[in-house]
Amino acid sequence: MTEITKSAHGAWSSRFTFILAATGSAVGLGNIWKFPYITGENGGGAFVLVYLACVLLIGIPIMIAETMLGRRSQRNPIETMELLTEEAGADKNWHYLGWMGVIAGLLILSYYSVIAGWATAYIAKAFVGSFFDADGTAIKTLFDDFVASPVQMIFWHSLFMAATLLIVVRGVNKGLEKAVQWLMPALFVLMLLLVGYAMTTDSYFQGLHFLFAPDFSKLTSSSVLTAMGHAFFTLSLGMGAIMVYGSYLPKGVSIAQTAFIIAGADTLVALLAGIAIFPIVFANNLHPDTGPGLIFQTLPIAFGNMTGGWIFGILFFVMLSIAALTSSISLIEPAVAWLVENKNVSREKACIWSGLAAWLLGLASIFSFNIWSNVKFFDRTLFQLLDYLTANLMLPIGGFCIAVFAGWIMKQQHSEQELNMPNAQSYQVWVVLTRYVAPLAVFFVFLHVVGVL
Ligand code: PFF
Repeated sequence: MTEITKSAHGAWSSRFTFILAATGSAVGLGNIWKFPYITGENGGGAFVLVYLACVLLIGIPIMIAETMLGRRSQRNPIETMELLTEEAGADKNWHYLGWMGVIAGLLILSYYSVIAGWATAYIAKAFVGSFFDADGTAIKTLFDDFVASPVQMIFWHSLFMAATLLIVVRGVNKGLEKAVQWLMPALFVLMLLLVGYAMTTDSYFQGLHFLFAPDFSKLTSSSVLTAMGHAFFTLSLGMGAIMVYGSYLPKGVSIAQTAFIIAGADTLVALLAGIAIFPIVFANNLHPDTGPGLIFQTLPIAFGNMTGGWIFGILFFVMLSIAALTSSISLIEPAVAWLVENKNVSREKACIWSGLAAWLLGLASIFSFNIWSNVKFFDRTLFQLLDYLTANLMLPIGGFCIAVFAGWIMKQQHSEQELNMPNAQSYQVWVVLTRYVAPLAVFFVFLHVVGVL
C-alpha cells in the first residue's frame, strides 16, 4: 500500500473556513441565475421536486465521497486519483477522472465568467440609476441592448476573469478564505429582502404555486436530466472542485456533517432566489421561460420600484458578482493546483495559462448571444452547448465515477476510517447511497434520455 504522506499542499486553518469556502464554491450563479431560469423553462414545481430529490439522494452522498477522496490523499485531483488508484490496487484508467475534472472546470469557467460579467456590469447599471422607475419593457430593452454588444460583454468578462486570477494567484489560505467570510451572511440577508419585496406584489402566491405545486405532466426526460445535472452543478460536484477543497481539510473533521451544512445552505439560497423572482415575473406579465436573461429582466424591476432600491440594487449585484467569484476560483483551482504541483510551473504562470484558455473560450459564449446567435450545433448555440456538455453530461459522469470509485473500488476499511462517522448505521446508509442509489440513478436518467427506457 502506498504511504499517504503530506505534500507541500496548503491547508485550511479550520473546519469553519472549509465550510465557508465550499459553500462559497457551491453558492453562486447556479443558485441565483441558473436555478430560476431552468425552473422557469422546465415548468416549475415538478422540476424543483426532482432537483431536491437529486440533491438529497445523489448530491449529498457524492459530496461526502468527493471530499473524502480529496482529504485522504491531500493532493490535487489528478494526483488524488493516481494515488488512491494505487492504494486500492485498481486499474490505471481511473486516472482519467482527475483529468476530466480539470477540463470540465475550465470549460465551465469559460461561460461562467461571461455571465458573472453580466452581474458585474449590472452593478454599474444600478449605480447610474438605469433601473429607476423602470417597467418590464424598459428593463428588457436594457438587457437586450447589453447582450447585443460583444464589446461590452468582452470588457466585463475580462474584468471578472482578471479578478478571479488575482485571488487564485494569492493561494488557498490568503485568497480564498478571506473572500467568503462575510459574503455568505450578507447575501442571505439581501435575498430575504428581495423575498420581502416579492411579498408586496399581488402575484406572490402565483409565484409560490409555480415553484412548489408539482405538475408532473410538464416533466420530460430532458428536464429530469437538467434537474439532475443542476444538482451536480449547484453543489460543485463531479469535477474535482470539492475534491481540491477536501484535500485542504484537516484530518479529524466530520465530512458528512459538513456536507449537510453546505448542501442545506446552497439549497436554501436557490429556493429564496426562486421565491423572490417568480412573483416579479408574474406581476409584470413576463414569461417564466425567458431563459438566461431571467434574473436580469426581473430583479431590476424590483430595485427600480422599491424604497432604497438604488442602494439595494448595487449591493445585490455586488454580492452576486462576489458569489460568482468564490465559485469561479474553485473552477480554476484544480487546473492550477495540478500545474503547480506536477508540472513545476509557478502559481502565477499556472493561473495565467489556465485563465487565458478559459477567457478565450468564453468569447465563443459571448458571440453566441449576438453575432453567432445563428451558429448552432445539435440545435444549440455554443453557450448552450457548453452548458449542456458540462452540467448535463460531464458533471454527472464525473459524479457517477466518483461514487463508483468511493463505493466499490476503494477499500471499505479506508473509507470508513476517513469518514469516521458517529455510528455504523450512518456509514451503512452512505455506503448504500454511494454504491447503489446514486450511480444507478445517474445511469437510468442517461438511459432515459437516450431513449432506451
Ligand atoms: N456551484 C457553482 C454555482 O452554483 O454557481 C458552480 C460550480 C462551481 C460548478 C464549481 C462546478 C464547480 F466545480
